[in-house]
Amino acid sequence: MRFLAALSLILSVAALSACSPQNETAAVDGEPMVSPILTSDDAKDPFSYAQPEVARVTHVALDLALDFAQENVSGTATLDILAADGADTVILDTMGLIISSITDETGSDLPFELGEANDGMGAPLTVSMGRKRQIVIAYTSGPKARALQWLVPEQTAGGKHPYLLSQGQPTLNRTWIPTQDSPGIRQTWEAKITAPEPLTVVMSGLSGGDPVEADKGRRAFTFAMDKPVAPYLIAIAAGDIVFQPLGPRSGVWTEPVMLDKAAAELADTEKMIDAAEELYGEYRWGRYDMIVLPPSFPYGGMENPVMTFLTPTFIAGDRSLTGLVAHELAHSWSGNLVTNANWSDSWLNEGTTSYFENRIIEKLYGEKRASQERALNFAAMEETIAEKGSDSDITALHLTGDNAAPEGGTSGVIYDKGANFLHTVEAIVGREKFDEWLESWFDRHAFEPATSAMFLADLRKNLIKGDAALEAKLMLDEWVYEPGLPSNALRPDPAAFAEVDKAAEAYAASRTLDKAVWANWTSAERLRLLSKLPKQLPDEELAKLDRDLGLTASANNEILFVWLNLALQNRYEPAVQLAESFLATVGRRKFVAPLFKTLVEQDDWGKPIAKRIYAKTRSSYHSVTTGTVDAVVLDGK
Ligand code: BES
Ligand code: ZN
Repeated sequence: MRFLAALSLILSVAALSACSPQNETAAVDGEPMVSPILTSDDAKDPFSYAQPEVARVTHVALDLALDFAQENVSGTATLDILAADGADTVILDTMGLIISSITDETGSDLPFELGEANDGMGAPLTVSMGRKRQIVIAYTSGPKARALQWLVPEQTAGGKHPYLLSQGQPTLNRTWIPTQDSPGIRQTWEAKITAPEPLTVVMSGLSGGDPVEADKGRRAFTFAMDKPVAPYLIAIAAGDIVFQPLGPRSGVWTEPVMLDKAAAELADTEKMIDAAEELYGEYRWGRYDMIVLPPSFPYGGMENPVMTFLTPTFIAGDRSLTGLVAHELAHSWSGNLVTNANWSDSWLNEGTTSYFENRIIEKLYGEKRASQERALNFAAMEETIAEKGSDSDITALHLTGDNAAPEGGTSGVIYDKGANFLHTVEAIVGREKFDEWLESWFDRHAFEPATSAMFLADLRKNLIKGDAALEAKLMLDEWVYEPGLPSNALRPDPAAFAEVDKAAEAYAASRTLDKAVWANWTSAERLRLLSKLPKQLPDEELAKLDRDLGLTASANNEILFVWLNLALQNRYEPAVQLAESFLATVGRRKFVAPLFKTLVEQDDWGKPIAKRIYAKTRSSYHSVTTGTVDAVVLDGK
């Protein structure tokens, strides 16, 4: 059934038509799976040098050694190339890589040229492969490769061993893997990685089993991903980590001292996988393991296949922040199975996933929690749209120009507006029909790239089916291509926070808050209350809130973050110390960047504090975080 879709894609790849028998996402016995590429204009990736219609990478085999002293990886990457007849060069993406040689599979040198580097994209590597279709690149990652973060023992929970973690999305993997680093060019991969004992290595592929002894106190770990994935999904972590199973196909890796806490927080994982499968079909990746990383990890989570990467800051002790896990799990369908062809359509990954996340939360924890999380997200979205302007292009789902740049466009609107779009479609067509369609969309495009235009065309063909009244009601093009919020947007249920909003009004009017009521509230309710507090509060009120609600002592990092932000906005001195220790341990950009921004905005009071703290903490952050915070704290001041 997928054959026709695959075939139509193949036919448009005229240059590759000679290879068409291989160029489809069907597992031919014994042959690796090869996904089609899209060649329409809206599917082109301006942030990759690759010319996949001429020659494309279909498989990557890494053989790398981790060097914690030099903070680099070195070894070889062997690439299988699928090329048009007569094509004799292949262009790869690289950033800062030091290439020592490129050969064919017999070891004969192949000429290559490393082009001029551009700050955001790195440098094209053009390899003259002649008629050869396998190339072997011997290389070392450059100094400060941006995907990789090398932690000293003091930055880990155990404090005894170094640690390595990577973050590839969107365009960072070219700093440690020479391949075509574009989400529309899927590749299977395998890896052999050596690391010094006693470190353990995990990757976003299935493990080849126990490590084997390698030379000089090192061990070799092997991994394989036999399904074609977008290359941003190749990830690695290494450290003093241990594993605990959570269910038949799930488990968690983390440092020994974190294991019990992490496993307890993640105890619902297997149920989440079941819920996700009930919603949108079979989980197709085999295992679903997670690694709870040190707190310098720059994101909340990253959906690396078979090995979700997680910040430890989601551990609140009560599973109240496990929406993060539902989110990363949902990406196993929206993002990893069906992938945005380029970063203009990130909403296809993130918006669809945020919708799916909410459906998992509803199945697991009930409609009340799901509806509260929707309401929180809706309010955040409205605030961002108001801040950016409802006519600002950055509030569209399909992003263009600079807004689609991998580094920019981090407004977050695509998550919540994308989710709201799908909640709206669901409400209009009915849940049953919508779910059936969404599952069929994942099926039709499994292991393939997709664009907004394809998504809308598929909705029209398979869900709207020419019903003009329905088409008019849905306002599809406005949702995807226009800024702001369409008039048919599904509003959150006012009942979701009725009690909290009343308490917030009472507080605004009379500065009274019943702490017993707060004590019984959910995490979402508490966050809602905090978001509704007056923006300006005197020290005495802040002290009282902190005392009554136990904010400084909160084990919930989302609450702690909102509290710190409020306190710093009000130049509340007693919170500076906590802010400083928080910023010294947590490197999650979503928390770190706004706190520094708040400080910097407090001119004479906050700017020197921001500069003082950042001077101490900057070297402990991943490049994703410093990339944003440098512009806030250092630039032009
Ligand atoms: N895939 C994203 C992280 C990402 C997005 C990295 C874009 C680089 C570029 C991940 O799934 C994500 O969305 N993480 C969120 C958590 C989520 C619950 C909203 C985060 O890290 O905050
Ligand atoms: Zn996501």
